[in-house]
Amino acid sequence: MSSNKLKKKYILKLNTLKKHNKLYFEKNSPKISDADFDKLKKEILEIEKNNPNIIGKFSVSNLVGSKPSKSFDKYTHKVQMLSLSNGFSEEDLFNFEKKIFNFLNNKKKFYYSVEPKIDGISASLTYINNQLVYGVSRGDGKVGEVITENLKTIKDIPLKIKDRDFPSEIEIRGEVFIKKANFIKIKDKFANPRNAASGSLRQKDPNETKKIPLNFIAYTFGYFKNNFCKSQSEFLDQLKKWGFKTNKDNKIFPNLKEIIKFHQQFESKRFNLDYDVDGLVYKVNDLNLQERLGFTSNSPRWAIAHKFSADTANTKILTIEIQVGRTGALTPVAKVEPVNIGGVIVANASLHNEDEISRKDIRVGDVIKIERAGDVIPHVIEVDKSKRSKDSKIYSFPIICPSCGSSTVKEFNKTTKKYDAVRRCTNDGFGCERIAVEKLKHFISKEALNIDGLGKKVIEKFWELNFIKKPQDIFKLDYNKIKKLEGWGELSVYNLRASIEKSKNVTLQKLIYALGIRHIGMENAKLITDKVKSISNLFKIIKEKKFNEFLNIDGIGETQMNSLEKYFSLQSNLKILYDLNEILHIEVKKIDSNGKLKEKSFMFTGKLDGISRAEAKSLIEKNSGNTVSSVSKNLDYLVIGENPTKSKVDKAKNLNIKILTQKDFIKLLN
Ligand code: IVH
Repeated sequence: MSSNKLKKKYILKLNTLKKHNKLYFEKNSPKISDADFDKLKKEILEIEKNNPNIIGKFSVSNLVGSKPSKSFDKYTHKVQMLSLSNGFSEEDLFNFEKKIFNFLNNKKKFYYSVEPKIDGISASLTYINNQLVYGVSRGDGKVGEVITENLKTIKDIPLKIKDRDFPSEIEIRGEVFIKKANFIKIKDKFANPRNAASGSLRQKDPNETKKIPLNFIAYTFGYFKNNFCKSQSEFLDQLKKWGFKTNKDNKIFPNLKEIIKFHQQFESKRFNLDYDVDGLVYKVNDLNLQERLGFTSNSPRWAIAHKFSADTANTKILTIEIQVGRTGALTPVAKVEPVNIGGVIVANASLHNEDEISRKDIRVGDVIKIERAGDVIPHVIEVDKSKRSKDSKIYSFPIICPSCGSSTVKEFNKTTKKYDAVRRCTNDGFGCERIAVEKLKHFISKEALNIDGLGKKVIEKFWELNFIKKPQDIFKLDYNKIKKLEGWGELSVYNLRASIEKSKNVTLQKLIYALGIRHIGMENAKLITDKVKSISNLFKIIKEKKFNEFLNIDGIGETQMNSLEKYFSLQSNLKILYDLNEILHIEVKKIDSNGKLKEKSFMFTGKLDGISRAEAKSLIEKNSGNTVSSVSKNLDYLVIGENPTKSKVDKAKNLNIKILTQKDFIKLLN
């Protein structure tokens, strides 16, 4: 076919596809079948693949993930809107502070900014040249929705800032919420104040938003140009001066001891406040320290939400059920006589593990006190043994997996020299039904492939119906069959299909995380991705059984390596990865890959002064370098601190590797 003819054919097909896509997503009235739509798309993809020059401004791949017109425009946050880690006990708080000391490698005291944690909906306001330009919802933390007009209806949100010292561009973030007194007036329409705020913000017509009296309290910033202050408390003062509302109960404290006292006082008066509050937020006050501490993948290292204690209630254990989790852990759950705790009916309570049951001598029929804290499953605080009947029997924990009948083990931990408290099914993966279903739920979860419309319940259902047995089956669903199921309409099927299509674009880090390999969470998945760089390199390591290479990664130890080896040595797991590689578009995302340490590798030996390994490592990563944990010819720099390991220094000298003192290293980083 002449190139002209081919181009005409291509454009015709592309336009037809665009038309049907619109009918599909925006008009909700498809005119061709799913199969025909797929066929057309495949034909276009084929042309694009064989004739890359043909692709103009629009390629068929741009079509994926189109959104119904009902939704708002999307906005990628310049600085992610992360969440906060939660603390419930004093121990959690001291651990939080200890981690900070460790990261900064000193025990210097610092102040905390302490702020009530209003239970509302967070929003981000971008001001450019003192004008409110964008108002955006948090969304999934990375991409939010543009809801500027709705936010503008909130009287607490200034549209224009008069002060000269206001940064030329800044994102002010805070909480949108409804006061208790205002909620009472509309309580028939919404389940709780938080729902009222979020429902109102998502109205298509700002006039509808305006009808519900919302408030806004500012508490942090995202992207900004020009530095504007040195501490969080100073920032909160500035906010007030610029015309934003801040919480009048914000405080500064010099240590956790005083904070804990304040938490107790505040908790007792929480019900008298005119807004819903679910805890206090503690932030390292010094912004310079905040910058040094940075973030883990989900939350800042410099802040924690200290939740208020939960309500408790007494109830009775009806039975004990054993749930099998993604990693084979057998978790006992008490089915209890339903009881109302703080407005929520509770029928299950976690018993944690076999050891916990024997330590507390928990038995079927026991009267127990349970506690509910946040969204986590309630747990047993104590057993009222005085109410126990004479014929009650000690609970005997099953030793075979209740799901697949495999034997179970309590692993021996070489480091602690103790047996694990958790008993696990020995089946390695998809051979155990419950493990398989839980693995699938993990695969589609928010942090992993994030497939909207394919929640946990749908996974259970599709498993029962034999639609999905392995992760790759998700991408081969027969939508005509789904359409016929009860509760599924045309629109929900199209939406599901769109989010599955969208999820095909995935980073290698997320894919490794999504596989649900034991001991490989998001942070380790990142370390592995940084090392292997591409899926083909990962396959190479697996094929050549060079799992030892993972040990070179600073942060990956024997436990993780053994787990990776175990996982990838199983043919059925490998097949999953091979199949997924065929289906998915796997990208390796690099953060600022043009930093000044690009492609340079570092290793540390000896104690550093005034900076922890973790911080040094994060500085290297911020500048696009990487750290390794053994000396080889691929190493660029060995940084030596106090008392370095002689053999490492000698080996580096032999290999002509540059040796840096801590001073040289800091100089290199400037
Ligand atoms: S700071 C990087 N400060 O809590 C995190 N958050 O779980 C920055 N929240 O999404 C958040 N009061 O909706 C911060 N004084 C406060 C807050 C607060 C409420 C909410 C916010 C955030 C969630 C984090």
